[in-house]
Amino acid sequence: MRLDKFVAASSGLSRKQATLEVRRGNVQIDGVRCKRTATQLSDAQQNGGVTLNSAALFTAKPLYLMLHKPKGYVCANTDADHPTVFDLLNERDFHPSLQGQLQVAGRLDIDTTGLVLITSDGNWNHAVTSPNKKRGKCYQVTTANPIADDAIALFEQGLDLRGDSKPTKPAKLTITGSHCAELEITEGRYHQVKRMFAAIGNKVVELHRASVAGITLDDSLGLCEYRILTPEEVNGF
Ligand code: URA
Repeated sequence: MRLDKFVAASSGLSRKQATLEVRRGNVQIDGVRCKRTATQLSDAQQNGGVTLNSAALFTAKPLYLMLHKPKGYVCANTDADHPTVFDLLNERDFHPSLQGQLQVAGRLDIDTTGLVLITSDGNWNHAVTSPNKKRGKCYQVTTANPIADDAIALFEQGLDLRGDSKPTKPAKLTITGSHCAELEITEGRYHQVKRMFAAIGNKVVELHRASVAGITLDDSLGLCEYRILTPEEVNGF
């Protein structure tokens, strides 16, 4: 990798600021000042061999997090009216170069609670969320009206949602109480769970996501808390 690109990627500076730092002589490679921005770095040099103002630089590893989302937060990078899930993350927990690189893998509505996956790895995000991969997402649903037993077959057959050209893919509904159910879906359509219940004449009043692609929200995480995914969770599907 080029020196200026590496300095930017590992420090959180913009490419322009990184270039200035190199040209000013603030960057050393293996203890020797280098002002040539196009210098190509070896793997070893990218692993602690470059310093900026005497501090060794390292590139960030991709980041994978699970967050217990509360109500009132939107899954967007910025929002004029509401706080975003990124406001719940503490910048000090991350490599500076990851600022602005984090993305949500599968959004939740503002009034939905539960598991939100956040990553800097776009390929992983795609693998988790692509509808073609048919990764299950499990929701706990509370409804305004009682859930009739025939809802199980209707969800299994697929429902026509208003405005959509195709019926929903088979979904597994497990009724857990008169107004409560668990639902596993493999698609990620807009407001899908709420619209599926609306399609059978019911209304979702509480919605919580328990798992995505086999990754289950950790019981020990309170609302607003997050943790780094284990390697097994990252690679487990
Ligand atoms: N389906 C919904 O209707 N809302 C969500 O937040 C997630 C799935």
